[in-house]
This record gives sequence, structure tokens and C-alpha cells, in this order.
Amino acid sequence: MSYFRPNIEKMNGYVPGLQPTGDKITKLNTNENPYPPSPKVMEAIGGVSPDRLRRYPSSTCDAFREEAAKVNRVPPESILCCNGGDEMLTIAVRSFCGEGRPLAYPTPTYSLYPVLAASQNCPGIEVEFDESYNLPGELLHTGAKLTILCNPNAPSGSFVEPSVVQRLAGEFKGKSVLLVDEAYVDFASKNCAHLAQANDNVIILRSMSKGYSLAGLRFGYAIASKELIRGLEKVKDSYNVDALSIAAATAAIKDQEYFLGNIEKVKSERARLTNALCDLGFKVPESQANFILAQCIDRNAAQAYKELTRREIYVRYFDLPRLEDKLRITVGTKDENDALLKALKEILHADGDTAR
Ligand SMILES: Cc1ncc(COP(=O)(O)O)c(C=O)c1O
Repeated sequence: MSYFRPNIEKMNGYVPGLQPTGDKITKLNTNENPYPPSPKVMEAIGGVSPDRLRRYPSSTCDAFREEAAKVNRVPPESILCCNGGDEMLTIAVRSFCGEGRPLAYPTPTYSLYPVLAASQNCPGIEVEFDESYNLPGELLHTGAKLTILCNPNAPSGSFVEPSVVQRLAGEFKGKSVLLVDEAYVDFASKNCAHLAQANDNVIILRSMSKGYSLAGLRFGYAIASKELIRGLEKVKDSYNVDALSIAAATAAIKDQEYFLGNIEKVKSERARLTNALCDLGFKVPESQANFILAQCIDRNAAQAYKELTRREIYVRYFDLPRLEDKLRITVGTKDENDALLKALKEILHADGDTAR
């Protein structure tokens, strides 16, 4: 006998990436930013008065909304803050999906989406991206009430052009909400924020975990029409974001100069790492995110993953269709990337001596 709803009893939970600790590790497995957040973030946390902790925080995170509105050139009422981007995904699935109200998404993609569908007991409709990660035409005919497009996509790093996303939103009008998960968009050359104003069925999801180096804080936000935001507000917890997080995230988004500097550093290391991996014989498609998906040619990716882990270099391996011959590698600092490249050279060299 189980106390759980049958769908909860049956489902598998989300499996997060390892969070190993220690001085000697090289951690390139969960797409965190390798650089610290703006120094203004710690100042802002230190400046929070005891009174702000004694009282409940602003339920609409007004200070953050004002700043995010300026950065994204939208009205503050078009922004909804949340406890990490993951919470926004939960709020959206709870708002639009249920029995007979499917969730759809192109795959391979973020493995949280099917978990959210299962916990809401709604059908999760998966439609495969084509070989080059273009949008599959079948996505238009799923009958889903919510469609999630991860853009840039994880774990491929691929990017669907905003004009194509606009066409999709247009097709869905009156039928389905389109949520564009832009958790990694800070590292891309374009974004879809403007589509949230032009379409009454588009939600843009942003995370402060990646571009702003605040994964430990748990802060994200959505951009959408005022009407959609008002609906989503009914579903969220009243005080879903705490006072310390609001102060810290506000300081981070205000410091655009620091943020943009870090983004450029990650992009430049992404290019260097991509070239170096290609020189080592990996196939590495262009990535618009802070990670790359490297395909092992003539090598066993699972074996390479094990060997890296043994050397305390952590990357991500997915034993799943289309991914089982690849390693997903977060772009680290120059030293971290060099440590990875050195280890891979040793592993490939040893492989060459034995397996070939
Ligand atoms: C594709 C994607 N969306 C959303 C998130 C959620 O990010 P967070 O909850 O840290 O803001 C992640 C986290 O890794 C992600 O990979």
C-alpha cells in the first residue's frame, strides 16, 4: 500500500548532476559559471537589515523587477520572479497541464521536463529534433497545452533562431502556451525576450544561475504578457523568493558591466576549448551555451567519462539515445579547461596504446 498518488508512486525523480567537493577536483558537470558573482552581490547580502529578515519579503520582488524590466525593456508587470528557473517550470506545468492536457517538448533536452509532466499526471509528448537540432514539424500537431523549447538547448548547445520561434508561437496562438527556456541565453548571440511582448501565449524563462554566477542562490524569472503573469501568480507560493535572494539578485542584474565581462570570458574559453577538442579528434558542434557537447569519434565516451572521473575531473555523461557517444562539458576557467584537455590527451594516448 502506498500513501502516494499512483503517478508519483510510478514515476522516477529527477537525477541532478553530482556535486562533489574537495580542493583537487575540476568540476565541469553542472553548467555553473566558473567565475564568482559580482562583488556587489556580497555587499548587498551584507547590507540586508535584520528588519528585512523579520518581515516577509516583497511577494513580487519589486526591486528586482524594476531592474530586470530595464535590462529587458519590458514593463515590470511583465516579470514574475521565482526560486530558480526550475520553480518557474513547475509553476507553468501546474498552470497549464493536467490529465488530458499534455506537455510537449523536442528531445533530447533538459531531463526535468518529463519529471514535471509525470508529477502533474499529464502526458509528456516527446518529439525528436532532427539531426541538426532543427525544430521537428510534428511539434505543431501534439495538441499540447504547454510546449517547452529549451533555447539554447541542453545538452546540445544548439540554438533555434528567434524568427523560427516566432513562427511557432504564431501557430500555437489560441491553442498552446510556448515557454522558451532561456536558462543559457546569456551566452548566446540573440534571445527571444521581445516575443513575450508580441505574443499573448509566450513565456520566456531566465535563470540567474548561469550568466550571473548565482546557482547557489536560487533565483530566476519569467517574462510574459501581463495577463499570463497574473495567471501564473495565482499558482506560485506567495513568498517564493526570500529577502536575501532578492537583494543579491538585484545587485547582480544591476552590475551589467561585470556580468558582460564574465560572459565574454566564458565565450572566449568556449571557442578555445572547442578548437582544442577538435584537435584531439572530437566532433564538437557550435554551442551557444556555457557548455559543449563533444562527440567521441572511435572512442568510448562512457569509458572516457569514467577515466576523467577517476582523475577527479567531472563532466556529464548521459547513457541515452543520441547522447551515449558524447560528453557534455561545462566551460571552465582557463586552468580548469587545461586540466581537462591534459587528462583527455593522456586518456586518448593510453587508449591508443591498448585499444588500437
Ligand atoms: C535547461 C535548463 N533550464 C532551467 C534550469 C534551471 O536553472 P535554475 O533553477 O538553476 O535557475 C536549468 C538548470 O540547469 C537548465 O539546464
